[in-house]
Amino acid sequence: MPSTCSGLLDEGSYIEELKKQNNELLNINYRLQRMIYQTYSLYASLNHTGHSSPDINNKEAYFKTITALTSTIDAKDTYTRNHSKNVARYAVSLGKSLGLSEKELTGMRYGAVLHDIGKIGIPDAILNKPGKLTEDEFKIIMGHPSIGASILAPIDFLKDSRDIVEHHHERYDGCGYPFGLKGESIPFAARIVGIVDSWDAMTSDRSYRCALSREKAIRQLEDGSGSQFDPIMVKTFINSVISSLSS
Ligand SMILES: [Fe+2]
Repeated sequence: MPSTCSGLLDEGSYIEELKKQNNELLNINYRLQRMIYQTYSLYASLNHTGHSSPDINNKEAYFKTITALTSTIDAKDTYTRNHSKNVARYAVSLGKSLGLSEKELTGMRYGAVLHDIGKIGIPDAILNKPGKLTEDEFKIIMGHPSIGASILAPIDFLKDSRDIVEHHHERYDGCGYPFGLKGESIPFAARIVGIVDSWDAMTSDRSYRCALSREKAIRQLEDGSGSQFDPIMVKTFINSVISSLSS
């Protein structure tokens, strides 16, 4: 029987919760089929009319359908619901504090929402495995940035956002994946998403642990400053973004 951060569910609540989740999954499945159909139709129509660069309305429509796909990733685990949207919100705030232009912030929003889209290609049994992953399973998980980058590869207007998807698990010290890029050779926007992705993961409840307090999460960011994360960005995030959040 699953537990929550407030305690164990009793049997009746557990069955109710299962029923609710089952209905939600049926709805998601239906929406997913519709979205895939709309995405392909839109992409096919853009190609058919010879648009190499879709207009702003089509970009937004296309982005919405792809974004909706990411909600299916979040929905695989109720604990990670809204993760992609939260990451986008934090990434845009940090990007603003670091002086990015409006155009760069738009690319940031797209890339941040889509950062884990490659998880679509990872089996659920591995993504949601409650215990420790084997080395082989971890290697499969490590494939999600490259899978995501290839999903976005044919979409011209998401060219800038692709860097975020492909490099959000690189580490500042070069020990990340998929390429082991180091320091400023990691694309700027991907360094931003690396920080805010960790922040949202630490400050949200997960199936295997409750959310960390803000103080503990800040300490973890500081511990990773210069090794996992870009130190200047960590400082800006703590001083400008976190300090402006209501507690
Ligand atoms: Fe990821």
